[in-house]
Amino acid sequence: MYRKLQKDNDQSLFQNGSDNKNRNHIDSWKILIVDATQQMHDQTKNTLKDVMFEQKPVTFLHVYSAKEAEQLLSKYDDIAIIILSAELETKDGSVHLVDYLRKDLQNNRTRIFLLIDQPDQLPINEVIISQDINECIEKKELTSQKLFTSVIFMLRSYRDLFTVEDSKNRLEDVITATSKIIRDTSKHQLVNNIMLQFTSILNLSDSSKIGGVFLQRTNEDSSILIHNGIFDNILINDLFNSFTREVLDSINNLQSFIGNDSFLLYLGTVFNRHYFIYFYTGRTLSDWDKRMVEIFSSQTSATFKNVCLVEEIDNTQREIIYTLGEIGEMRSKETGNHVKRVAEFSKLLALKYGLSEEESEIIQLASPMHDLGKVGISDAIMNKPDKLTKEEYEIMKSHAQIGYDILKNSERPILKAGAIIAHQHHERYDGTGYPRGLKQKEIHLYGRITAIVDVFDALISDRVYKKGWKMDKIIKYFQEQRGKHFDPELTDIFLSNIEEFIKINNEIK
Ligand SMILES: [Fe+2]
Ligand SMILES: [Fe+2]
Repeated sequence: MYRKLQKDNDQSLFQNGSDNKNRNHIDSWKILIVDATQQMHDQTKNTLKDVMFEQKPVTFLHVYSAKEAEQLLSKYDDIAIIILSAELETKDGSVHLVDYLRKDLQNNRTRIFLLIDQPDQLPINEVIISQDINECIEKKELTSQKLFTSVIFMLRSYRDLFTVEDSKNRLEDVITATSKIIRDTSKHQLVNNIMLQFTSILNLSDSSKIGGVFLQRTNEDSSILIHNGIFDNILINDLFNSFTREVLDSINNLQSFIGNDSFLLYLGTVFNRHYFIYFYTGRTLSDWDKRMVEIFSSQTSATFKNVCLVEEIDNTQREIIYTLGEIGEMRSKETGNHVKRVAEFSKLLALKYGLSEEESEIIQLASPMHDLGKVGISDAIMNKPDKLTKEEYEIMKSHAQIGYDILKNSERPILKAGAIIAHQHHERYDGTGYPRGLKQKEIHLYGRITAIVDVFDALISDRVYKKGWKMDKIIKYFQEQRGKHFDPELTDIFLSNIEEFIKINNEIK
């Protein structure tokens, strides 16, 4: 009933930019040829140019010295194979290059194929062992068949190393993503974050092709709670018409389903409502992608249920507090949503004063209880149409003490704050208030804040017996009462942000 002031950031999900690591997707297998002679370049290219490995072609990079090769390697980290001539511009140029790749660049993935002219010039076996060279052959023994076989063999091992590394990165992503979602406190926040993490885990960068919906199903109907990406504005019927039989069956059976380019995640059932995420990825999912989705999903379902329950408790607590506040409100014949406006006003003033979000929220939840003590005042006084006698007024004033007495024994921060506010909201800065005649900073900050916003709401609202005051009259009143009724510093902050208070007033009628 009350959450309309809270910002909803569902819209911006895919524009927020996930923290994707820009992993390499292999489009072609890069082979770097490092040899001083053109003949070796031509021969290699001719032999390998039509090679297709796993439906991807090979592409060639040509350099003629170790120095050039070093520059190139510093730019590319996706070279599958280096075909390296042992004899370069310097005698040990090739050995240094291997050193640079393995030690400086920490690249253990690129395969190295060393070609030698004269085996006796280099202690070959030693180099092969110490420098992590994957294949070595004398140039004169290099036939086309031998070159082809070796390259395929090395591509295969490069692919395996690539997959292992990529899997490791993605698993790290899943772990990071899981720990990120645990911090979410509302199910909307959580689901938006889950969808964002899917884009990261699956490395989906083209936001124009992807989409996610958060679905709720009850025994009566189904509805979409969050739309994202390509599903923005989609109607529930159109969405269901686009589903495959497997997806529809899975919804009916309360199961997850992973298809070729999309998946349905059953999050769980809470209070007879069944929750799902349907996510369209815009590309074919590999087996590994599916496995990642499965692992991540199994983690999120448990979190989802917890978040729902915490959210329910949180909402129940708010409802109870407002109900308590409304009891006081009903008895004091305040109109409409007085306590809800006071709640929002006091949070805003607390934030503007510089209190933390958390403490401001405590004041927000506690301030509705300021007149709770009116439950202890008799109907005869509460409902008296005429002016109260002096004695009756004294009884009326006791509502501050009664409210305090009701709440004072609680250890809960919100109720403790409620006790202070109930007790002190009629104290005045100059010491002329009640019940204790506290002055200045003797009055707790929560009391000083609530005093301002409670009066502001009383002045700006229509009552049975009066119209709400005009803004210039209200501002003038606060300027006059600055340092008398109200804390001067808080009054200044309040007046310089008056537009925001007016906005809240217009939103909660
Ligand atoms: Fe009061
Ligand atoms: Fe009030």
